[in-house]
Amino acid sequence: MKIGLVVPAAGRGDRLAAGRPKAFVLLAGEPLLVHAVRGALSSGVVDVVVVVVPAGMRDTVLELLAPLDCPDLRVVVGGGERQDSVRAGVHALPSDVDGVLVHDAARSLAPPRVFVDVVAALEAGAVAVVPTLAVSDTIKRVVDGVVVETVDRRELAVVQTPQGFRHDALHAAHEAARGAAPATDDAGILEALGHEVRVVPGAPEAIKITLPQDLLLAEVLVGAAPT
Ligand code: C5P
Repeated sequence: MKIGLVVPAAGRGDRLAAGRPKAFVLLAGEPLLVHAVRGALSSGVVDVVVVVVPAGMRDTVLELLAPLDCPDLRVVVGGGERQDSVRAGVHALPSDVDGVLVHDAARSLAPPRVFVDVVAALEAGAVAVVPTLAVSDTIKRVVDGVVVETVDRRELAVVQTPQGFRHDALHAAHEAARGAAPATDDAGILEALGHEVRVVPGAPEAIKITLPQDLLLAEVLVGAAPT
């Protein structure tokens, strides 16, 4: 299967408050985006890379990623919502790509094993695949400051990226979702259209770097990662 990687990296990163777009915040001396793309490439399953960046950052990204030797690198400008950025990235893929991995630059520490597992599930016939983790906290539904339900956590999962899709299904889903309320992940858009979304094991270290404390934890995890 020919696999395209789409990396949405056009977010402003307001919650991280690092004074620059989140994908360009440094982790162990390198931008989050560089960690994310390097992890994906070292899986050996990626044939084409599309990075979606804020306006004005194209040349910077080409320069940052040059040492990684991306097989076929395309850099496009994103939109106002993550969904707009992913759609722009999907449009930049060559038409002969069979499967697409959508991977947030903010989830910089996803290990190569997860990319391999997601692609294996696509090769086995899945239309949509997400890496998940079990929920360890007790989760309650709260309405107007009052608990109305304790949800059975055995039925819940935390969802990560890379999320994998058949190229035609992802393209059609993003077109269908144009103008709709933005989804928080791509699998959600396919779910809404009735596609089955399969799961593979996620990785606990693949945290989403959103808040300043996430960056501190990521620094520790990078230091602890085997070389
Ligand atoms: O904002 P959030 O943490 O959900 O962003 C997840 C990923 O989507 C990040 O890698 C961010 O750069 C990207 N994004 C984007 N375009 C946007 C908003 C977020 O590419 N408009």
